[in-house]
Amino acid sequence: MNIDPRPSVIGERLSRVKRVIAVTGWKGGIGKSVTASTLALLLAKKGYKIGLFDLDFAGASDHLILGAKGLFPKEEKGLEPPVYEGVKFMSVVFFSENKAVPLRGANVSDAIIELLAITQWGELDFLVLDMPPGINDAALDVMRFARGAQVLAVTIPSVLAHDVLDRSLELYKKLKVPVLGIVENMAAKPGPRSVRRDPALERALGRPAALLKTRFASDLSAVMRRLHVI
Ligand SMILES: Nc1ncnc2c1ncn2[C@@H]1O[C@H](COP(=O)(O)OP(=O)(O)OP(=O)(O)O)[C@@H](O)[C@H]1O
Ligand SMILES: [Mg+2]
Repeated sequence: MNIDPRPSVIGERLSRVKRVIAVTGWKGGIGKSVTASTLALLLAKKGYKIGLFDLDFAGASDHLILGAKGLFPKEEKGLEPPVYEGVKFMSVVFFSENKAVPLRGANVSDAIIELLAITQWGELDFLVLDMPPGINDAALDVMRFARGAQVLAVTIPSVLAHDVLDRSLELYKKLKVPVLGIVENMAAKPGPRSVRRDPALERALGRPAALLKTRFASDLSAVMRRLHVI
């Protein structure tokens, strides 16, 4: 018998969230976080109600990409995420104070589930989840608990990355996790799912207005339009 009340609490917490998009990619450093953060900003600018949740315990970075400093959730019947640039923003960094968190395996899973269970997102059009690299218990739990979450799989143009991508897509199929689409980041040339390598991206990090003006953001926006997200 399952006596853990949190799955039903999470269902309740996410009941007014229309779509959950989990930005995944099994390789590290391929642009999951810049994709998740920029997607949240793009959607907020379009007037959608947006939440962004950085779930990467080992390397939370959305707060740096967004330049969100000095934020903390309000405790009010759970945790109410602070709003930054029109985005309700939650990050595991709020709880780790920027120190590396020595959580492992089941602990990470537990902490993520706990945070999903206590965060008050309210009404949202989209909740964007920035997932940690790889596929571990924690990542699988998130997909299991955030029912109806769709995967946006980030990859890069490399034979090795594509091999990993193919394996991840097979697993999602087996687990019946819906895949919204694929973003081929750091592409050399334009294409229907390509986001080109943008030498100006690094300088725009930490500045949302500048980030939205990058070629990276306009490429991502075009891919999202093709996927009927924007
Ligand atoms: N299209 C791009 N053009 C130029 N630089 C990029 C591009 N995409 C990502 N980067 C840079 O690559 C680095 C890694 O990106 P990011 O942190 O988003 O990757 P990640 O997949 O989230 O990494 P991790 O696995 O550590 O969570 C960042 O410095 C980012 O600015
Ligand atoms: Mg990341």
